[in-house]
Amino acid sequence: MADAHRIEDPHLYHLFDGEPVLNVYKSDVTNLSAGTPGPDLLKQCIEMFKHATEHRMKKEEEHAYLFQYGITSGLWEFREELAKFLSAKYGDKVHRQNLILTCGATHGLQMILTTIVQPNGVIFVEEASYMIALDALKQFSGMKMVTVPIDSEGVDIAAMENIVREEKSKGSWNVTEEKPFWAVFYTIPIFHNPTGITLPKKRCEALVRAARSLDFLVVCDDVYVLLHYGNAVHPPKRLFAYDATLEGYAGDILGVVEVSTSTWQVL
Ligand SMILES: Cc1ncc(COP(=O)(O)O)c(C=O)c1O
Repeated sequence: MADAHRIEDPHLYHLFDGEPVLNVYKSDVTNLSAGTPGPDLLKQCIEMFKHATEHRMKKEEEHAYLFQYGITSGLWEFREELAKFLSAKYGDKVHRQNLILTCGATHGLQMILTTIVQPNGVIFVEEASYMIALDALKQFSGMKMVTVPIDSEGVDIAAMENIVREEKSKGSWNVTEEKPFWAVFYTIPIFHNPTGITLPKKRCEALVRAARSLDFLVVCDDVYVLLHYGNAVHPPKRLFAYDATLEGYAGDILGVVEVSTSTWQVL
C-alpha cells in the first residue's frame, strides 16, 4: 500500500513562485524563462474582476442561471463575446457555434483525442514541438506517436504525406461516425514553439489538401496567434481559415486557442 506521508505537496501558491528559475516575484529580476505576467500586471485584474462580478451578479438576480449546470460547449454568452473578440483580432469571422470552452489549449487537445480520434490511432507531431503537449500526448498509450520533419519554413509537407500514407497503409481502421479520424497531426503553424516559424501560405494549403486526401485531423495549436507585432493590423491567417476558404471543405482542421495566457491565467 502507498505511504500517504510520502506524497509531496509543495507549498507553492502557484506555478511561478518556485526557486530558482521560475520565480517571477523578484522585483530586481526580469524573468524571461516563464511565459507569465508578474504581479504588477496581475494586480490590474483586481478592479476589472470586481467590476465584472458586480455587473454579472446584477444580471443573475432574476434566474441565477450562472450557478445552474452549464451546457457541454460552455456558456452561450461567453462564447458569443469570445467569437466577437476573436473575429476582431483575427480580422476573420469566428462563429460562436464553432467554439467549445476548455480549461486551456492542452485540455482542448486531450478532449479532441478522447472523443473523435480512434483509440488505436496515430498521432503525428513535428520533430520539435511544445514539450507539455508532447507529455499530454504520451498519456494516450494506445496510440502510436510518429514525428514528421521540419525545415526552415516549417513542416515539410511532401515528406509528411509519404510518412502519413505509409502509416495509414499499416493499420486497419475502424472509422465510425463517432470516431471519424484514424490519425491526428498536432501542429503549431503560427509562431511555432520552439522555432518561431510561421507556416507559409503554400504549405498551409498543401497541408489542408493532404489532410483531406489522407483523412487525418489537424489540430492547430493557435495559442500565439494573437501575440503578433509589426505593422500588420491582423495576425497571419489561421489554418482553420484556409480550410474554410479552400474549395471542398471537409472539416479536417480544428484549432485550439488559449485566450487565458493573453487575458486571465485563471480561465
Ligand atoms: C505551443 C503552446 N501551446 C499551449 C501552451 C499553453 O497551453 P495551456 O492553455 O494548456 O496552458 C503553451 C504555453 O507555453 C505553448 O507554448
